[in-house]
Amino acid sequence: MEIDVVGPELEVTLRAGYLDLLKGCLTRLLFMNDAPGRDNEALAEQRTLRESGWDWPGEAETMIGMVRLDNIQECVETVIREGVPGDLLEAGVWRGGAAIYMRALLFAFGDESRLVWVADSFEGLPPPDSTNFTQDVTNDLSGYKELAVSLEEVQANFDRYGMLDDRVHFLKGWFKDTLAVAPIESLAVLRLDGDYYESTIQGLEALYDKVSPNGFVIIDDYFTFEQCRQAVDDFRAANAIDDEIVQVDWGSVFWRKSKS
Ligand SMILES: C[S@@+](CC[C@H](N)C(=O)[O-])C[C@H]1O[C@@H](n2cnc3c(N)ncnc32)[C@H](O)[C@@H]1O
Repeated sequence: MEIDVVGPELEVTLRAGYLDLLKGCLTRLLFMNDAPGRDNEALAEQRTLRESGWDWPGEAETMIGMVRLDNIQECVETVIREGVPGDLLEAGVWRGGAAIYMRALLFAFGDESRLVWVADSFEGLPPPDSTNFTQDVTNDLSGYKELAVSLEEVQANFDRYGMLDDRVHFLKGWFKDTLAVAPIESLAVLRLDGDYYESTIQGLEALYDKVSPNGFVIIDDYFTFEQCRQAVDDFRAANAIDDEIVQVDWGSVFWRKSKS
């Protein structure tokens, strides 16, 4: 990459370069290069999966792929540019990559006021609650040990990128116990990535009222899990929300809140 700009333009170029580099690291796409002696065809396939957020990576800090990271970037840039008040929150962080990216965006844009809330059990998904959320019974993800990443590991991942500071607040526990009582004043970006009906509706019920007008609600799994879609559709119907749902990629959507 050649840098032949100066002054304010240089700042823009360096910021874009830093953010691209970070996405390449968080997804590990930066390191999936062709090389002599490697099975480059298999690698190309793996790269496509990774880029589009289809695989569960062995090492990368996020599984959401490039398009969804770009979507986070667009939402955060917009709320900063337009002065939409509130913090950023992800519920369902796994190894922390998407939330690390949120904190990095605040850093890159010199935002010194917003917090990043990082909510997870840090022990994977719960067994489906067959009494209250029968929708999830056919989608039991509680046995996937690879989805259980400890708080210490996630904090170490934030630290690896220089993003572990007092602007990052961790909410450890089941969403039903942590989200509603968290001392959050307002949110500019609410990102829900908890897969289940239960996890999605609990996020919306606890936090939707805190999303500022013109803030963003991102649902990672809307087209991935019908249970998640059902939770969103039920919540929107119950609360007469008709803001347009915009598709991000094969799995994810967002909408922009028009009123409080
Ligand atoms: C698919 S992963 C999230 C992926 C992540 N956003 C990324 O950037 O790669 C889902 C996460 O949601 C968490 N989770 C799901 N339901 C939960 C609940 N009800 N309470 C707490 N954590 C939950 C799991 O522990 C897991 O870390």
